[in-house]
Amino acid sequence: MTQLGSDTIQRIGVVGAGTIGASWAAYFITRGLDVVVFDPQSTVRLGLADRIAAMAAQLPALPGVTIGNVLVADRLDQLADVDFVQENGPEREDLKIELYQQLESIIRPEVMVASSSSGLLIGRLQSHCRNPERFLIGHPFNPPHLMPLVEVVSGAATGAGQAAAAIEFYAAVGKRPIHLKKEVPGHIANRLQAAVLREAVHLVLEGVASVGDIDAAMVYGPGMRWAGMGPALTFHLAGGAGGIAAFIDHLGGPVQSWWDDLGRPDLTPEAIAALIDGVEAAYGQLAINDLQDQRDRFLRQIATMARPAQ
Ligand SMILES: NC(=O)c1ccc[n+]([C@@H]2O[C@H](COP(=O)([O-])OP(=O)(O)OC[C@H]3O[C@@H](n4cnc5c(N)ncnc54)[C@H](O)[C@@H]3O)[C@@H](O)[C@H]2O)c1
Repeated sequence: MTQLGSDTIQRIGVVGAGTIGASWAAYFITRGLDVVVFDPQSTVRLGLADRIAAMAAQLPALPGVTIGNVLVADRLDQLADVDFVQENGPEREDLKIELYQQLESIIRPEVMVASSSSGLLIGRLQSHCRNPERFLIGHPFNPPHLMPLVEVVSGAATGAGQAAAAIEFYAAVGKRPIHLKKEVPGHIANRLQAAVLREAVHLVLEGVASVGDIDAAMVYGPGMRWAGMGPALTFHLAGGAGGIAAFIDHLGGPVQSWWDDLGRPDLTPEAIAALIDGVEAAYGQLAINDLQDQRDRFLRQIATMARPAQ
């Protein structure tokens, strides 16, 4: 099977137009690509083109690039002539397995299908496909029109060269793809987030601080550095001239003792109630829409800043 390269991909099929699909569509049109966006729910399709245009308008115009066209589709077979599919259906293995079988009968054989799945294993999703080699994960971060990261993961049956082609495509449209060498539930970024959330819940349950103060500890502390440096580079710089080796030499013992003390709470009813109550106390007076607008303004500002070592 010959796969399409980034220079031949012009028309994107966006399947599922909820939170993630609509945002992906907005991003793709700002890169001059045309989008056919399918969603089975008429309520989701209503006003969809306007919502996509409004998100696209949040991004700075690229010199010489004309915004692409959006076709809102009410049938999957309207994706017959797309060059690449970004799949954003609900996070359900059975639904995606069935959807991929339908897609296979519609799209051309050389067209790649990337799933936005937050943590399902592509090896299972592609397991019922006739041509499983074209399927992989292309996991974005919410909202994809503002967040650069895309995690690319192959399954056992994904064709050689597909991950490289997907990485080339995402990079060519301005994303920051990374490659996972093997499948793990939740990929990388969600696992890192889940580890931090678990410890935050543990600290709340232990009565160490309020949800608001734990969030502030992140936002005004490590979060500021993590916008520009990952955990390894952060601690490389914490070691002074000796770098990460000096850091481990100096503080490796304490870090090990903190690891040993980290909590392992489960999402019990008690933990869920404590988290919801804490969030309500910290942010309950603010409307979700206003918080989303604040988030998006903040993300757009960060996007303009250069990262230290990237
Ligand atoms: N929400 C996030 O923060 C986030 C981040 C990254 C990735 N994702 C992943 O993106 C995918 C979509 O998540 P979401 O948050 O946009 O969900 P969502 O519920 O907002 O959207 C899902 C959409 O899929 C549509 N749909 C239902 N059945 C379908 C079918 N058979 N074929 C095509 N579309 C169908 C629904 O009508 C809905 O509009 C999931 O796999 C999720 O794990 C979510």
